[in-house]
Amino acid sequence: MKAAELFDLKGRVALVTGASGGLGLRFAEVLAANGASVALVARRADKLKSAVAKIEKAGGKAIAVEADVLDRAAMNNAFDQAEKALGTVTILVNNAGVAHSTRATDVTEEEWNHVVRTNLDAVFFWAQEGARRMLKANARGAIVNIASVLGFGVSKGTVAYATAKAGVIQMTKALGNELAFKGVRVNAIAPGWFVTDINREYLASEQGKKLTRDIPVGRFGQDGDLDGALLLLVSDAGAYMAGTTVVCDGGQMVALRG
Ligand SMILES: NC(=O)c1ccc[n+]([C@@H]2O[C@H](COP(=O)([O-])OP(=O)(O)OC[C@H]3O[C@@H](n4cnc5c(N)ncnc54)[C@H](OP(=O)(O)O)[C@@H]3O)[C@@H](O)[C@H]2O)c1
Repeated sequence: MKAAELFDLKGRVALVTGASGGLGLRFAEVLAANGASVALVARRADKLKSAVAKIEKAGGKAIAVEADVLDRAAMNNAFDQAEKALGTVTILVNNAGVAHSTRATDVTEEEWNHVVRTNLDAVFFWAQEGARRMLKANARGAIVNIASVLGFGVSKGTVAYATAKAGVIQMTKALGNELAFKGVRVNAIAPGWFVTDINREYLASEQGKKLTRDIPVGRFGQDGDLDGALLLLVSDAGAYMAGTTVVCDGGQMVALRG
């Protein structure tokens, strides 16, 4: 078996949430470059439109679907639109997320709810809907939830985010356990620090720059560093993987400070 065949996604239909920028955009591009047709979902229609144009220019097939992941009607419509234009979604990348930097004693109920609903509740309901549709179509599929190293460890000012991401890791186990024997594999990726809009300001600060000292690889993650993990989990290369979380953090989690 050649590596290219093992990772080939020809004939597969993918849906990526939070695909208007950052990691999600890269995920969509990588899936398309390896043969999948991709539905890109997010709120910013202009960004989605240019992302689709970029994918098409590179020879891929993609559509843009404007949706807020918190809106269940928009979620159903997004799956409907993807199905109508491309076919049953058999790869779902649950990537949309938001962060915060408020210390625990200052987090408001509104902020807590927004962070947890986006990073945890929405991940569950999109995975549930994606799985229901795969099962109904009798299709084998893969769901990849984007967690974080903050789902394992914590840093100050991340209480709602870290709690939600820990929930995603546990939820991934539960879904993997219930769905694998039906042909739907659910796994997660836990990235370390990647410079995107979610943290650009913080990572550029004096405090942020110091974080690379704790990363054995010696730098923040960059475009391409998650391609391998994503392709592994969604393709036949990951056929025997279910309920697991792949950590991609340049060694950050296992390194002791100092
Ligand atoms: N960057 C890192 O260091 C890092 C590390 C670990 C985990 N992660 C995780 O990776 C994922 C992507 O983050 P990123 O770094 O790429 O951040 P980003 O550049 O800020 O992108 C976040 C994406 O999520 C979308 N989004 C947010 N809220 C949404 C909503 N309510 N409905 C629909 N889409 C929504 C945004 O699109 P619109 O604004 O257009 O809706 C955007 O496309 C997140 O789950 C994040 O927690 C990131």
